[in-house]
Amino acid sequence: MKLTIVFLTLSMIASLGLASDPSPLQDFCVADNYSKVFVNGKVCKDPMLATANDFFYDGLNKPGNTSNPLGSMVTPVNVMQIPGLNTLGISLARIDFAPGGQNPPHTHPRGTEILTVLEGTLYVGFVTSNPENRLISKTLKKGDVFVFPEGLIHFQQNVGYGNTVAIAGLSSQNPGVITIANAVFGADPPISDVVLAKAFQIDKKLVDKLQASFWMDTN
Ligand SMILES: *[C@@H]1O[C@H](CO)[C@@H](O)[C@H](O)[C@H]1NC(C)=O
Ligand SMILES: *[C@@H]1O[C@H](CO)[C@@H](O)[C@H](O)[C@H]1NC(C)=O
Repeated sequence: MKLTIVFLTLSMIASLGLASDPSPLQDFCVADNYSKVFVNGKVCKDPMLATANDFFYDGLNKPGNTSNPLGSMVTPVNVMQIPGLNTLGISLARIDFAPGGQNPPHTHPRGTEILTVLEGTLYVGFVTSNPENRLISKTLKKGDVFVFPEGLIHFQQNVGYGNTVAIAGLSSQNPGVITIANAVFGADPPISDVVLAKAFQIDKKLVDKLQASFWMDTN
């Protein structure tokens, strides 16, 4: 009985410690992109068949196309682009911003983000959990680094005169993105306007208008 309690406590502590992807149990597990088997992550291909290209991506020197209503574009480099990232708990993204461009409020359900500004000026922030919902924000310049803790809603906006470029590291091979406006007002099929009118304490007409808007996804 005592042992069971000790074991349960230990396993709870162990699972609480897992803030990002689980540790690998081998050198690497290059994703077999053609496997039809569903596991937590991706199935490994034969390690003897792994090549340098499985760990490689080129083109992050190319700016993303920011000609869109948000004026931003995220170029992800995660396990979808680099199969060798499978099980390694890390990934990268390049984010481009036109002047005034914005990466709208979103969250990464599986990863903490650490971002550095390579060029330009970026106003960034994240909001803490209920009940405080404290906004923690800062204006970053070239060379500055900022952290967005796992799961918290955050945003970035170019407040400089020129283009802004940032690189973000994420503590997951597949951090995922939930853009708040898209998830709430752009759900497919739509969330009932009765539900959203009550949730936001607004008129159903305004909900319908918001739901009819085009929710751009650049992340
Ligand atoms: C950028 O995106 C816009 C809008 O989709 C498109 O019209 C334009 O051709 C794109 N530019 C480049 C360089 O791909
Ligand atoms: C793996 O498959 C996905 C979905 O079909 C595709 O988007 C991605 O580019 C593929 N990755 C590689 C490295 O082939």
